[in-house]
Amino acid sequence: MQKHPIIIDNDTAQDDCVTILLALTDPAADLRAITTVAGNVPFDRQVANAQMTLSVAGRLGDVPLHLGCRQPMLRPWVSAEEVHGDGSGGLEIELDPDAISDEHAVDALIRLTAEQPGEISVVAIGPLTNIATAVVKDRRFVENVKSLYIMGGSNNGRGNTTSSAEFNFYVDPHAAQIVMEAGFTDLHIVTWDPITIRDATYSRARYDQLTSIDTPIAAFFKKVCDATLSFNESVGIDGSTHPDSITLAALLYPELVLEEGRYRVDVDTQSELTMGYSAMAWDKFGSEANAHVVERMDGEAFYDILARMLQTPSVPSRPIDGLAG
Ligand code: RIB
Ligand code: CA
Repeated sequence: MQKHPIIIDNDTAQDDCVTILLALTDPAADLRAITTVAGNVPFDRQVANAQMTLSVAGRLGDVPLHLGCRQPMLRPWVSAEEVHGDGSGGLEIELDPDAISDEHAVDALIRLTAEQPGEISVVAIGPLTNIATAVVKDRRFVENVKSLYIMGGSNNGRGNTTSSAEFNFYVDPHAAQIVMEAGFTDLHIVTWDPITIRDATYSRARYDQLTSIDTPIAAFFKKVCDATLSFNESVGIDGSTHPDSITLAALLYPELVLEEGRYRVDVDTQSELTMGYSAMAWDKFGSEANAHVVERMDGEAFYDILARMLQTPSVPSRPIDGLAG
């Protein structure tokens, strides 16, 4: 099986944790580094969530963890704590400072991709502040990245943070637009609407099947996902949402991408009403495409990939308070 060398740039909470677990356990993934960015929950909480995620898989210290930008480029930071709680269901861990690299995430993104030009892909599943900063700091980053897979925006559809904007693009719309204009030659966007809410949302009954698996990873999965499932049900989304992990799956298993189109994508940075809105123009409008936008994914195949991941046995690297066993 082909292994995909990847860096995951994320705002570690709920499904970001699931994505890291998938990258640590899936045979198609070769996880080179994890970089963190301001997003879902307070930054230091994200660092703890990342260490717990690595630990539950027994991999704390194995994968370089680089801390990145602690605030968006221009806009004030916006939290998603109302959605995810603290992003880990109240779990706690004693941080291992030796498992945190001294190298900033942006420098790591630039260095790692420069050391192997065209070989390492980046999966960006949080606000794009680190990615945009890398572009601004060293233009060669754009050429050195093999593929850039982004979870963000909606394809002429619903937002989730405002009626028009998805969270990652809303938190740092300026960074998102810098990335859209940067010239990445293999940019893929997995959206909130329709992909997440149609193809990566699983009912509570199916979620319960996943969380009934008897492994430390499945117990952790339940802990980090429960709060978001409850929030979703309170706002009319009937199930557990997995936008970030299905974005990684789109890279690891391209056969899961059933439909994808070429679009010109731009992110609104001007209007308070539609700040962070992803304008996605298809070929009819004649603008030069800058992205592949995923239009349909095989949600059933992805569910099986999640179930396989959750079966993975592990011996946690260090105790996680609140996690049974
Ligand atoms: O809009 C979905 C995105 O924001 C995901 O990356 C998830 O982490 C949420 O916080
Ligand atoms: Ca995320």
